[in-house]
Amino acid sequence: MKVYIRTYGCQLNVNDTEIMLGILERYGHTVVNSIDDADLIVLNTCAVRAKSEEKVYGKLGEINRIKRVKPNIFVGIAGCMVEDKREELLSNDTVDFIIGTRAITRIGEAVGRLQKGDRKFAILDDLSDELAGELPFHRLDRYHAWVTIIRGCNKFCTYCIVPYTRGRERSRPPGEILKEIKQLALSGYKEITLLGQNVDSYGKDLSGNYRFSDLLEDVARIDGVDRIWFLTSYPNDLEERVIDIVSSNPKFGKLFHLPIQSGSDRILKLMNRGYTVKQYLRLIDTVRRKCPNAAITTDIIVGFPTETAEDFENTLKVMETVRFNRVNVAAYSVRDGTYAAKHFEDDVPRSIKLKRLNEILRREREISLERSEELLNTSAWVFLRGRSEIDPRDAYGYTDQFKTLIVKDGVKFLGRWARVKIIKVSSGLLWGEMEKVVERRGELVHTL
Ligand code: SAH
Ligand code: SF4
Ligand code: F3S
Repeated sequence: MKVYIRTYGCQLNVNDTEIMLGILERYGHTVVNSIDDADLIVLNTCAVRAKSEEKVYGKLGEINRIKRVKPNIFVGIAGCMVEDKREELLSNDTVDFIIGTRAITRIGEAVGRLQKGDRKFAILDDLSDELAGELPFHRLDRYHAWVTIIRGCNKFCTYCIVPYTRGRERSRPPGEILKEIKQLALSGYKEITLLGQNVDSYGKDLSGNYRFSDLLEDVARIDGVDRIWFLTSYPNDLEERVIDIVSSNPKFGKLFHLPIQSGSDRILKLMNRGYTVKQYLRLIDTVRRKCPNAAITTDIIVGFPTETAEDFENTLKVMETVRFNRVNVAAYSVRDGTYAAKHFEDDVPRSIKLKRLNEILRREREISLERSEELLNTSAWVFLRGRSEIDPRDAYGYTDQFKTLIVKDGVKFLGRWARVKIIKVSSGLLWGEMEKVVERRGELVHTL
């Protein structure tokens, strides 16, 4: 069977897609890159906001029209919406089966059931143990790999659906993670990103004292891996030892993604975030002191229930104080089943949410542009990760501060490191020309 998976949401979902595709290949199926070529279409969905779910319903409408012409195609739904919208999805005419976030290892069996004529079934088991072990992957990138180290979330921020869609925190055993990364290094992957909703919780559910910082040190020892990133840190849980490791070991990308969500203590409390603005700013000071060249990025929600103009001003104030390298901003969206949905009224009008959202976006762009302009005419090392979508001759990669750099004529050197002179900048992107290219960072192999 020819299989196409469309991925929505975060990188954890991208990695889950890679697992499902890997399993389907083991079952003898073929991965295709276009919905029109597929016999089986799987939507790997996100439920974090209403908008994420609307996108999926839009896609289902489109698939429904394809299905009228090609009635023999199958449609499955995976990802976070499955837990959230079970009944609704199963009763949708277009959908043949649903499979939960902790049951994706059964995707091969799901196809077997379809072939036997089974329809409208749900696979919702918690098979976290299988997900912790060795799995086949169909990697979507050739030079950079996602590696999930911990699944689920125990935090229960009042607005957030993730703890309900992905369940409790489950760390993969270090041995499994290290084995996977060694294998990746042997296959030529030089850059990896360790993933979890809260990577700082890593290891706390396993026996023994092995923590996230221990994992970072062990991953950095793997020969062949040149650069390591990780996502997401929880402000309260980020240990100083982790900052020290990132700062002192050249293999680490100098990035801390520390979602603040709001600059108002009152709202942070209603969100159940467990820190105050003062504590957050103290953490930023520590990061800046220990790792002065680190980029700090964040997530912000505007229009949380009861958010006043003053609360919002406080969020803007934090933006001015920290001058984040990047901000992901979202308008608060009610998620059924969460504490906030049950106890707080969604009382900030949509127009005000949008106004606040745009204000953050505008300020974010200005700060990013100022930061980009400082980089003009400087040189940076970048790992050439993939082909640019704008011009296929150009490559893209990330600087150590996680700025996207488009490298002119870089595509010939994908998978290598380039020293790049930055010649043009915008708020989001940098453009540059190669000065030299090396196989491994720091080692001169090829001079242009
Ligand atoms: N684990 C990470 C983020 C996970 S979800 C953390 O703790 O920050 C990614 C982002 O989506 C969140 O940081 C938040 O900004 C946003 N988000 C989550 N639930 C939301 C909701 N109900 N409405 C609007 N934005 C939301
Ligand atoms: Fe959601 Fe909070 Fe968990 Fe992040 S830490 S996934 S925002 S509950
Ligand atoms: Fe979305 Fe689930 Fe990720 S809700 S953000 S796909 S964990």
